[in-house]
Amino acid sequence: MQPFTPKQIVRLLDKYVIGQHEAKKAVAIALRNRWRRQQVPAELQDEIAPKNIIMIGPTGVGKTEIARRLARLAQAPFLKVEASKYTEVGYVGRDVESMIRDLTELAVNMVKEEEKVRVERRAREVAEERLLDLLLPPPPRPPAEEPARASDGEGGVPVAAESRTDTREKIRRFLKEGRLDERFVELEVADRKIPVVEIFSGSGMEEMDVQIKDMFGNLFPKKTKRRKVKVPEAMEMLVQEEAQRLIDMDRVTKEALDRVQHSGIIFLDELDKVAGREHASGPDVSREGVQRDLLPIVEGSTVNTKYGMVRTDHILFIAAGASHVAKPSDLIPELQGRFPIRVELNSLTAEDFVRILTEPENALLRQYVEMMKTEGVELEVEEAAIRRIADLAQEVNAEAEDIGARRLYTLMERLLEDISFEAPERKGERIVVDAAYVDGKLDQLVRDQDLSRYIL
Ligand SMILES: Nc1ncnc2c1ncn2[C@@H]1O[C@H](COP(=O)(O)OP(=O)(O)OP(=O)(O)O)[C@@H](O)[C@H]1O
Ligand SMILES: [Mg+2]
Repeated sequence: MQPFTPKQIVRLLDKYVIGQHEAKKAVAIALRNRWRRQQVPAELQDEIAPKNIIMIGPTGVGKTEIARRLARLAQAPFLKVEASKYTEVGYVGRDVESMIRDLTELAVNMVKEEEKVRVERRAREVAEERLLDLLLPPPPRPPAEEPARASDGEGGVPVAAESRTDTREKIRRFLKEGRLDERFVELEVADRKIPVVEIFSGSGMEEMDVQIKDMFGNLFPKKTKRRKVKVPEAMEMLVQEEAQRLIDMDRVTKEALDRVQHSGIIFLDELDKVAGREHASGPDVSREGVQRDLLPIVEGSTVNTKYGMVRTDHILFIAAGASHVAKPSDLIPELQGRFPIRVELNSLTAEDFVRILTEPENALLRQYVEMMKTEGVELEVEEAAIRRIADLAQEVNAEAEDIGARRLYTLMERLLEDISFEAPERKGERIVVDAAYVDGKLDQLVRDQDLSRYIL
């Protein structure tokens, strides 16, 4: 697959996130650098350390959104995690190393899927033959004839065999034309019932849990059971089974480990939640403790996964945190040093809100219009109305609390509440929301500070 250029990446992000150009640019370069590093001479590759990024900005301005969209176009193992989910070793919760294990698991699945596509054709061919065997079981052959099979053809094909081949081909044609889709066949399927071994997964235990399950899975003979299924379903099951058989898991694992170590990306969201250098006392998990645990992983260490050892030296970390809670300087110094690139996201303005309401492919307004369409109601929000909503959003953000674009969600919900409630009875109508309607619904609320604090 052709890797995206930084400009292409920014353009793809532009479809969903308005503004925040600096942040998009930084992540686009970082993503491209993953690919560049793969191209340089091997002896240099080891020297090129990833330049981890930290995105800082107020709440609700697109940090997480950038990560979500980035994940789709990364073409590399990409894991988004919340820093707040992790706890210091020894506490109940997930230990930080589990993020590397998750990333590895993800990479293995990614490579496996690719392999599946690669072997799909072959798997389909074999599966088709097996299905034909099921639809037209071969005649029981006297054992004595078995060794003579190869020479069958020489003595002239027996008439019965020839008509069998014909029948088989006919069935094959029916199969392809979908004429057997309603037929049932009986199939031997692997019985997925592995003895349930539930292990209390505290920190670090989950991996063991998995390994034990695997162990048991292999320990007990694979049970099979017979099931009656329709032909198309049988075909899919056989294809899956054949694909599994054709995939070389050793190769998949090797390739996956390679990808994780050389092009893996971890997006560490909510870093602010573990920022803070205070020494927690009592039963609280110390945030600094989580940071200390994070450090070796970000700096480069080896993590044991069920697929093998993973070196984290070249994994790229992109962190994000809300600036109103914490500053980078709230991180322990060693960790600050590991995130040399800082990008700031801007607080959103009324102009941004207008664009956020209308431009993204998943724009909020579009969502409402489509939802109303399902009720047979044609919803139109006039430009002046959009402008008005954006202004009000900015106003509430300035006066109550700046929650960024999330404010639009509360405003829109309030604004369209009645229309949404009555829509089924207004089938066939065209409802136009103009600036006056917006004012009628929202202005009073916005003016009243106490009310807006609760409702908007
Ligand atoms: N610049 C933007 N363009 C388009 N939509 C945005 C933008 N900023 C925020 N949004 C929308 O607002 C919502 C909240 O944004 P997001 O989750 O990215 O906030 P955040 O920056 O991660 O905030 P927090 O620090 O609270 O986690 C999302 O649904 C997102 O689609
Ligand atoms: Mg977020």
